[in-house]
Amino acid sequence: MTATAPTPRARIYALLRYEELTPSARRWRTFHVLVLAIGLAAVILLSLDHLSGESRHILRVVIWAATIVFFIEYLLRLWVAPELPHLVDFPAALARLRWALSLSGLINLAAVAPAVVFAGGYALTGTDTASVFCILWVLKLGLHAPAFSTLARVVSNERAPITSVLILFAILLMIAATAAHVFERDKQPEAFGSLPGAMWWAVVTLTTTGYGDVVPQTVGGRLIGSLLMISGIAVLALLTGVLATGFSQEERRREYLRVWEQVARVPIFSSLGVVTLSEIVGKLRTRYYPPRVTVVRRGDAGDSMFFISSGEVEVRLPNGGSVRLGDGAFFGEMALLERQPRSATVATTRPTTLLVLYASDFYEIASHIPQLADAVEIEAKRRREENLGRQAGGSRQ
Ligand code: CMP
Repeated sequence: MTATAPTPRARIYALLRYEELTPSARRWRTFHVLVLAIGLAAVILLSLDHLSGESRHILRVVIWAATIVFFIEYLLRLWVAPELPHLVDFPAALARLRWALSLSGLINLAAVAPAVVFAGGYALTGTDTASVFCILWVLKLGLHAPAFSTLARVVSNERAPITSVLILFAILLMIAATAAHVFERDKQPEAFGSLPGAMWWAVVTLTTTGYGDVVPQTVGGRLIGSLLMISGIAVLALLTGVLATGFSQEERRREYLRVWEQVARVPIFSSLGVVTLSEIVGKLRTRYYPPRVTVVRRGDAGDSMFFISSGEVEVRLPNGGSVRLGDGAFFGEMALLERQPRSATVATTRPTTLLVLYASDFYEIASHIPQLADAVEIEAKRRREENLGRQAGGSRQ
């Protein structure tokens, strides 16, 4: 079977994918966010009263330019919809319809539609008031935030503790509102005369918002208020803790999958069994570096080593020469093995994805996976000798 080259539609789909890591997809995303930011700034500025006619004209042109970009993007996304993994089995027209009706499709449509309202409003009334609808563009920012889908997963994973905290919130709210109603209704019938009125005060107090529009005046009411404020802090802290833990666990799971994909490209790991590998994968972190970024600097303390999943780095050796390391190679091991400062400066030459292993994890892994420790040590020894040889050669000249 021969591998077929990707079709133009597949290539554009890859370019427009929000999670794609290729340089061209990154460039497209940067451009897209830039257009969004400039477009939104223009919409905000156009709402100012004291603008000259010329400034208004420029801002309108900017808004139109952004709309044209979003419109072309919408058409392209509609065209490539049959490439979406969950829609590949559908006929092209149906796949496009399903995408158009999906959340992503509707948000992209919402970015194009307001400009029509803006144009219509301007044509009818001669004012720019309708431009405020373009603020809907801000929804597109959500598509750039992978954390949104993470949030949905976190809420779903942690629904049991979240529900418990919300139930606790409801119990406190009801008890406090009823108690305040009993203590305060005679003194302040307009605020505490009914349970819904007392509940408003309880919500404001429990969330520690404290508008101060309703304040208990009896001793009992104040006591309830004090307890409620303290409970409010505890309940919010609980909720924050549940969400923060859920987020970090979800991110760990995602990072684990990302590293699994990358680790296969590093030969030094290929001889390891699945159990050993899964232990190492749990300790590696992926890092993306653009070209010409210094990853380690000669003389710095070494706290980690790196495996090149894809890309290339240049090792600038102490004697002035340099060595290039590509896919699957590793560096930064010498400082960890010798407990010495970095022996050379290493910088990326092109977009590079690295897997980082921190020193503490390296020592732990090295202590019980001897074949990995040996392979790293042998290469470090070879490099050390090579550097010494070069230095000796350099000083003889
Ligand atoms: P470290 O000293 O921690 O930081 C710089 C890294 O450059 C070093 O570890 C090695 O991984 C790498 N390095 C040093 N010399 C060479 C060499 N001759 N060939 C390849 N890599 C090297």
